[in-house]
Amino acid sequence: MRYKMFGKTGMKVSELCLGTWGIGGVGWYEQSEDTRADAIRAAVEHGVTFIDTAPAYNSGAAERLLGKALEDMGARKDVVISTKCGNVFVDASTYVRDGSAGTIRRQCEESLRNLRTDYIDLYLVHWPDPKTPFEETMSTLARLKQEGKILHVGVSNFSQAQMEEAGQYCPIEALQPQYSMVARGSEDLIHWAAGQGMGVMAYGAMGGGILTGAYRQLQTFAPSDSRNRFYKHFQEPMFSKIMELLKVMDRISEQRGGTPLAQIALNWTAQKDDISACIVGAQSRAKVEQNCAAFDWSLSPEETAMLDQAVHQYLD
Ligand SMILES: NC(=O)c1ccc[n+]([C@@H]2O[C@H](COP(=O)([O-])OP(=O)(O)OC[C@H]3O[C@@H](n4cnc5c(N)ncnc54)[C@H](OP(=O)(O)O)[C@@H]3O)[C@@H](O)[C@H]2O)c1
Repeated sequence: MRYKMFGKTGMKVSELCLGTWGIGGVGWYEQSEDTRADAIRAAVEHGVTFIDTAPAYNSGAAERLLGKALEDMGARKDVVISTKCGNVFVDASTYVRDGSAGTIRRQCEESLRNLRTDYIDLYLVHWPDPKTPFEETMSTLARLKQEGKILHVGVSNFSQAQMEEAGQYCPIEALQPQYSMVARGSEDLIHWAAGQGMGVMAYGAMGGGILTGAYRQLQTFAPSDSRNRFYKHFQEPMFSKIMELLKVMDRISEQRGGTPLAQIALNWTAQKDDISACIVGAQSRAKVEQNCAAFDWSLSPEETAMLDQAVHQYLD
């Protein structure tokens, strides 16, 4: 595993951050609870010290599984836990943004209970809530920090203007944007945030799974599956463009003797200077182990140039 300082927080984190949206048990291919818990154990055993979760991942189910797994392993203090607030789970396809003071406080207390801990290392506003002034949301976070319930504050899915406004009421130490070869819309924002000294944790580094090469034909997912809505990569016109990119990834894989595409995708994002960590959702030990092994090697400058060229050619 490789490790980096996470912005100016003083925390050192693994460059692979385990994502737990699927581990929550709904919205993705559903695995047994034992398999999902084993994915968490595998991550910790292979040096992952950064795990991302949220109450929005099946109404606290992901947090509860994570809290139990870390307690069983006696590993709570070894792991930087990032969890979130302000996005309330209704069902697998319905989430309600709510950044009001009452909801943030209630969610924080629930997350502490779910995670079996008395502090949250990194607490993020999941999505901006247009109905609640940033002053209310961020002042509540500042108070939770003073109380020692949360150690660091960040945001996810915010624009620069929103961060500049929200940051007036509580310093923002981290940004969680979507970023991968197939989702580069936040590149300028990421560069700005890193320049401000924020830790940047990129989500969807596998493009929701499409960059692993597991999908070579359009799929029909279950109605509740997140890939129908959240990631546009599984629909045309994106799908065919991404298939062209995969051909270039296939060539790199072959030249390296069969390196998994997942590792190539992960290294492309992780090797960016502005990125502190890549969050990857994986629900099984085998996938976690494969993702951890991405950090045993790096893309050469020639390979990076091949991928960059393909990204510009097919996805600009
Ligand atoms: N802040 C936000 O708004 C936000 C939004 C989205 C995600 N996130 C966070 O970021 C995390 C990662 O994003 P994501 O889970 O949406 O997408 P992702 O990590 O890009 O892709 C997840 C998909 O890739 C598959 N996968 C992972 N490693 C693989 C491997 N080595 N080989 C084959 N398939 C592999 C997973 O399979 P299985 O699930 O079947 O194991 C899953 O289907 C989430 O879990 C969550 O913690 C945050």
